[in-house]
Amino acid sequence: MDVIVIPVLLSLVIELKTPGEIDAIDAAGSVVARILTAVRERAAPGVRPTELDALAADLIAEAGAVSSFRGYHPRWAPGPYPGVLCVSVNDAVVHGIPARTKLKQGDLLSVDFAVHLDGWCADAAFSMLVSGGSEASMNGSARSTSADEKLIRTTEAALQAGIDAAQPGVRMGDVGHAIAQVARGAGYGMLADHGGHGVGRSMHEEPHVPNESKPRRGLRLQPGLVIAIEPMLHAGGRDSYRHDRDGWTIRTADGSRAAHAEHTIAITEQGPRILTLR
Ligand code: MF3
Ligand code: CO
Repeated sequence: MDVIVIPVLLSLVIELKTPGEIDAIDAAGSVVARILTAVRERAAPGVRPTELDALAADLIAEAGAVSSFRGYHPRWAPGPYPGVLCVSVNDAVVHGIPARTKLKQGDLLSVDFAVHLDGWCADAAFSMLVSGGSEASMNGSARSTSADEKLIRTTEAALQAGIDAAQPGVRMGDVGHAIAQVARGAGYGMLADHGGHGVGRSMHEEPHVPNESKPRRGLRLQPGLVIAIEPMLHAGGRDSYRHDRDGWTIRTADGSRAAHAEHTIAITEQGPRILTLR
């Protein structure tokens, strides 16, 4: 999702994976899915995102995997990434550095996570509403959780639409078109300049996977192509964003909440296969 489309990059090599390599990415994806489930179960009011990061780091070690995030240093970033998770709360869309600030009832949490296992990467993300504990822990705010739930559900539906569209023989533009139909149809904004990406030995490979594009345009999807699809939706309906002072965290420009969902998938003869499932 850090891929910003530069026309020159479009000519770079796209590596197709063998069935055995796809199985290896699926093994990494199972680790990602299992750890994300553990993070989801731990996330609750009073828990610090730094604690979620520590939990994930322990589970990575236990699985014999390696964080794809920690130490990652793309050109646009101020320094190497410090965590194993991205934890983006409320108006943070993506790339939130796990903070010590405790989660609160009603926070909208997005968690992004990738590992390498035996040299192969898998990348996934989910969004959730922080809840749990007693009624007494409710902050009593009038904020409606149903708006947040709808944003999360629509983000998941946009991801699923993108996956369903990713059939062999169709074009990449059909994927972005399917995602945007769902997101725009519900009146949401989408994070400008960001989308999904190829996945393989590296977390970010060619091709770029747009979250919005014209149908019947672009790369023809072939069996063996492995990509991460990751819609990022803004409740406020606008696409603009800003970077935090930390240089990583991306926030909606209007302060509205955002949600993110991601799976790594393979295009196969039989259709899309999700690799980041338990
Ligand atoms: N998982 C993100 C993506 O989908 C990348 C996170 S950036 C990192 O592209 F620095 F945290 F790794
Ligand atoms: Co990604």
